[in-house]
This record gives sequence, structure tokens and C-alpha cells, in this order.
Amino acid sequence: MQARRLDQILSHYGYCSRSEARLFIKKSKVTVNGEPAKAADKKVDPSTVLIEGKPIEALGGLLAVLYKPAGCVCSHDEREGPNIYSILPPQWSRRNPPVTSVGRLDKDTTGALLVTDDGTLVQRWTSPKHKVPKIYEVTVSQDLSPDLAATFESGTLMLHEEDKPCAPAKLEIVSPRTARLELTEGKYHQVKRMFASQGYEVLKLHRSRFGDFDLSGLNPGEWRMLPIEGFLQQP
Ligand code: URA
Repeated sequence: MQARRLDQILSHYGYCSRSEARLFIKKSKVTVNGEPAKAADKKVDPSTVLIEGKPIEALGGLLAVLYKPAGCVCSHDEREGPNIYSILPPQWSRRNPPVTSVGRLDKDTTGALLVTDDGTLVQRWTSPKHKVPKIYEVTVSQDLSPDLAATFESGTLMLHEEDKPCAPAKLEIVSPRTARLELTEGKYHQVKRMFASQGYEVLKLHRSRFGDFDLSGLNPGEWRMLPIEGFLQQP
């Protein structure tokens, strides 16, 4: 990798600020090519740096799938209450650019949420043009009518204050009051608003899949790192 100043590397990947780098190097046993690092301003190859014996995390960019628990928001603004960034390592929020979520889930919604420091991936995976399928497990307040599937599939369902109808969405009724909905776009509160437009209140909402990524092996609040390299080159 291209050589950069050690203090720049440490702050870029969120370990400390540039001004803290000298002390951090002293305290945290930073090595470069197996030798203890001394100078914060020395240019080094980031892939040769170890911090307490471990390589720098996610050198090529960070991508992970988080099982978002209920009760936290996806905003960085702490005034909005507990957020997903307090579950994730604080170092991820200090990276430059910081880790952010790919789209958002409501405070009470659980499930698959991608987080990354790569703005291009955020744009690609949130753009309706790319039609990334998202699967939601929905529990509603009254028995579901079989007609609902055709309404959601029609591509003509207009939501209040939107200028375009919802793209066709697949609905599978799983039990009288539960359904699986596949969306390829992500309008504001889309699932709740689609059901509300037909007279149903959504009582529980869980996203079981985002594109190729599901929650297998994860409990609420846990995440899995994903190999970002395979996604960076795609159109
Ligand atoms: N649609 C909603 O209404 N809420 C979410 O959290 C996600 C999709």
C-alpha cells in the first residue's frame, strides 16, 4: 500500500487523533515491519503496521451487517436517543470517513442493517435504480386480506405526499396477521405507510435480508464483518 505518515494512518482508521498519535504510539505498542514505531511523522506502509500485535482493521474499507436491535435509532445525533453507533466499536465512528448505515431502520424496527465507511456503496445500495431487494417480516393489527398482494404488486400504489407510486412489491401472507414483503426501494417509513394506506397498523417489523446479506448466526446487537473488496468494483 502507499506509504503515509503514521499519525495520519492512526487517525484515518480511528485509533486516535493526529495530535494524540505520539502518546498512542508509546502506550499501544505500535510496530512497523516488526520494529517498535518511534516517530509519528514517519511515512510507512499501513499494511506493515501492527497495534498491540494486530493489523489495522479493515484497511481496504469497512463493511459489516449489524443485527439492529429494537430501541435504537440510526442517526448520529445523540439527542435522538440511543443509537446504533453506541453498539458498534467507537473507533468505527472516528474513522475518516466515519462508518454510517446504508439507509435507516426505524427505532422499533429490528434486523439486517449494513454499515460501511464507503460512500459509494451507501449510494449504490440505497438508490432505487439498483433495485436491491429487502425482505421484511411484518406483523399487523388485523387479519390480512388476500387482495393485498395484488395491490402491492400493482406498481400503482400511491403513498401520501409522494409523487411516484411504489414500485411493485411482492407480498406473501404467512399467517392471518403476518406477512413477508419484498421491496426494491426505500421510501421514508415505506412498509408502515404501505400497510397504513390499506388500513393496517404494523405492530412489529423485522428486516430479515438486505440484498445478499441475512442475519444467519447473529443475535440482536451483533454484527458480521463482510469482505468489502468484492463489492467495490461493481457498477
Ligand atoms: N419501512 C418502515 O416503515 N420502517 C422501517 O424501519 C423500514 C422500512
